[in-house]
Amino acid sequence: MITTSGLTKVYQSRGREVTALDGVDLHVREGEVYGVIGQSGAGKSSLIRCVNLLERPTSGTVTVAGQDLTALAGRGRRAGKELRRARSRIGMVFQHFNLLDSRTVRDNVELPLEILGLSGQARTRKALELLDLVGLADKAKAYPGQLSGGQKQRVGIARALAGDPEVLLSDEATSALDPETTRSILQLLRDLNQELGLTVLLITHEMDVVKTVCDSAALMKKGRIVESGTVGALLATPGSELAHELFPVGGTASGPGSTVVDVTFHGEAAAQPVISQLSRTYNIDISILGAAMDTVGGKQIGRMRIELPGRFEENVVPIGFLREQGLQAEIVEAASVGVPAQTPAPITKEVAK
Ligand SMILES: Nc1ncnc2c1ncn2[C@@H]1O[C@H](COP(=O)(O)OP(=O)(O)OP(=O)(O)O)[C@@H](O)[C@H]1O
Ligand SMILES: [Mg+2]
Repeated sequence: MITTSGLTKVYQSRGREVTALDGVDLHVREGEVYGVIGQSGAGKSSLIRCVNLLERPTSGTVTVAGQDLTALAGRGRRAGKELRRARSRIGMVFQHFNLLDSRTVRDNVELPLEILGLSGQARTRKALELLDLVGLADKAKAYPGQLSGGQKQRVGIARALAGDPEVLLSDEATSALDPETTRSILQLLRDLNQELGLTVLLITHEMDVVKTVCDSAALMKKGRIVESGTVGALLATPGSELAHELFPVGGTASGPGSTVVDVTFHGEAAAQPVISQLSRTYNIDISILGAAMDTVGGKQIGRMRIELPGRFEENVVPIGFLREQGLQAEIVEAASVGVPAQTPAPITKEVAK
C-alpha cells in the first residue's frame, strides 16, 4: 500500500547539509497498522512528511496505493492538482491536533470537505457522520477550547478521514496525551483500521504504542531503517533489538549448575501450557526468572526467561521439546563451558518504562 525506495532527504540548514533520510526502503502492506519507532532526530517525521509529499524527497520514490507520488508536480502548499487529489486520499493526524480554535468542531471537520468542493449540506452530513464514527456526535457545536486532549485528537482523526482516505498517517498522535487517553485513541485507530480497512502508518517514540496496535514495525536510526518486519517475525529473529525492547526479559541464574533459556511465544504455541507440560514430562522444577507477555493484534505473544536445573548437556532434551512445540528457545547462559556455538547468548537490553 505504501512503498518507499531509496528515499533520501537532505535539508539545507544555514549552509550546512543535514541528511534526515538516508535511503529508506519501507513497505507497508494494505490493511496493516505499521509503526515506525526511533529516537528524537532519527528522521521519523521527515519520513512521514515525505510519504505524503508535504516535503519533497531529495531522491527516491514514494508509491501510495499504486501511484508514484514523486512523479506528480509541486510540493507542500504549491502542490499540483494531481498531487493534491492524491494527497486528499491520505489522512494525516498530528501530535498537536492543529485545530482552528475559532471554528466549531463540526466546522473543523468540514474544512477539508470545503477544500474538496463538497456542497454545504453534503459537508455537514459527512462531518456529522465522521464525528459519530470517532465517538463525538454530541460535540459538533463545541469549540476546540472546550474539549479535552483526547477529544481534540478525535476531531483531528475525524478531519483526517474526511477525504475517505485509504491510508492514515499519524505523527506522534498520542505523545501529548496521558496513558489512559493514549489507549483509547490507539483503540480508535485500531477500530478504524478494522472497520474501514484503513492502512495506518504511525510514528512514535513509545514502545508501548507499537506493542498495543501495530502488526508490523520498523526501527529507525540516523535516517535509516535498521530493522523491520511483522511483530511475530521480529520476535522470531534472534538478537532483534526491537523484539528485546518490545518484550524485555531480565533475570539471572539463581546459582551455578543451571541453564537459563529465553523462550519466545508467538503463534499457535503461545496458547499451549508448554511450561507445565515441560515440567511434567521431564519431571523437572522450572523457575521463571522474568517474563513479558502481551496481547498483540489479539494474539498472545511474549518472552519468558526460565531456569532449568542442571547444565546445558543435561537439558538438551527438554530444550528440544520446547523447540518441537514451535517455540523459540535461546540459551542465555549455561553453567557448562560447552554452550553450542549456534545458540549465542542474546544481548538483553532493559528498557526504561
Ligand atoms: N526543516 C528542516 N530543516 C533542517 N533540518 C531539519 C528540518 N527538519 C528536520 N531536520 C533535521 O533532520 C533530522 C531528522 O528530523 P526529524 O524531525 O525527521 O526527526 P524525528 O525522528 O521526527 O524526531 P522527533 O522524535 O524529535 O520528532 C534532525 O537532525 C533534524 O534536525
Ligand atoms: Mg518528529
